[in-house]
Amino acid sequence: MNTYKIAVVNGDGIGNEIVPAGFAVMEAAAAKFGFTLQREDFPFGAGYYKAHGDFIAPGALEQLKKFDAILFGAVGLPEVDDRLPFKLFTNLIRTSFNQYVNHRPVKLLQGVLSPLRTKTEKDIDFVIVRENNEGEFVQNGRILYPDEPYGLATDTSVFTRAGITRIAHYAFQLAQKRRKHMTNVTKSNTMIHTLYYWDTVIEEVAAQYPDVVYRKMYIDAATANFVLRPEIFDVVLTTNMLGDILSDLGGAIMGSLGFGSSGNINPEGDFPSMFEPIHGSAPDIAGKGIANPVGQILSAALLLEHIGETAAAAAITAAVNATTSAGIFGADNGGSHSTNQIRDAVIARL
Ligand code: NAI
Ligand code: MG
Repeated sequence: MNTYKIAVVNGDGIGNEIVPAGFAVMEAAAAKFGFTLQREDFPFGAGYYKAHGDFIAPGALEQLKKFDAILFGAVGLPEVDDRLPFKLFTNLIRTSFNQYVNHRPVKLLQGVLSPLRTKTEKDIDFVIVRENNEGEFVQNGRILYPDEPYGLATDTSVFTRAGITRIAHYAFQLAQKRRKHMTNVTKSNTMIHTLYYWDTVIEEVAAQYPDVVYRKMYIDAATANFVLRPEIFDVVLTTNMLGDILSDLGGAIMGSLGFGSSGNINPEGDFPSMFEPIHGSAPDIAGKGIANPVGQILSAALLLEHIGETAAAAAITAAVNATTSAGIFGADNGGSHSTNQIRDAVIARL
């Protein structure tokens, strides 16, 4: 029987409610499909920072490296400086473990009414591939003389040929396994250095995938098309910040941010990959037991797919769709089911 070592990081806020739900569904799948999950919990996040002065423990990266995968919720608390969660946890893990792919499916679940009133499951089915290690989020900048009339602030994006090339290969190869369309969402008409270079390198890679239809689209037009014509998208490749923003729009057209799943993936397998919902710690609803766990559960399915348990992953996705098509929703979708009721409904269908 295969055994996988899974590091579990609930993080903060609703992470403490939805990660246990996601893990419970993974365990149910493990029992059904005949593999074992060896779990270890790490209490990292903004709460940990309040007690210990850092988001993770000393030596934690070395420890986490030994796992097959990480199941993560979200980090951030209203009382903790919100510049820190990304810097000291999420981005630290993503960059330290070369998780240069942020793979974010946008797929309307069965029975969910999209706010796009004419669109169905056939229309909303694509994957955002967000570059996850560089771009606008490298935090390369400074604030000078903040209180002076001549105060100034900079953040300089960094795009490398190697970084663009590897994410482009991932996106084109994903498109080859799907409907063979790749849309590069960019803004090279105004970001004439970084994003022009981004386009140039992607187009070089595109030439190696003649079977994939390649198209370039500016981010402003893409936002409109996500709403008006989502059916034109198959794989959407974009930068770190543009992908962050587009993902929440993807969640919205799926009917809730709470449906969005993701994998921070190191395709080479040199490091563990990390799976988390697309949203944050939602302090406004934390502690009430009403958070939608579906994005976390689908992130668990992505984790299982990544470690090779593809049948279990497909079964979880099917069980989630059976749950939503039965009209079992939380408050974010006009329903009244709690986090744990949704978890149990998915497990029952699994
Ligand atoms: P958020 O994504 O936590 O919440 C935005 C809105 O969506 C809220 O009204 C929330 O209640 C709702 N929502 C989110 N997930 C939901 C779910 N599963 N079920 C039902 N409703 C849900 O974003 P916000 O409020 O901008 O940020 C809150 C904190 O999360 C901040 O500290 C932020 O830095 C952090 N954050 C952390 C991320 C991570 O750890 N990867 C990602 C995004 C934000
Ligand atoms: Mg985000």
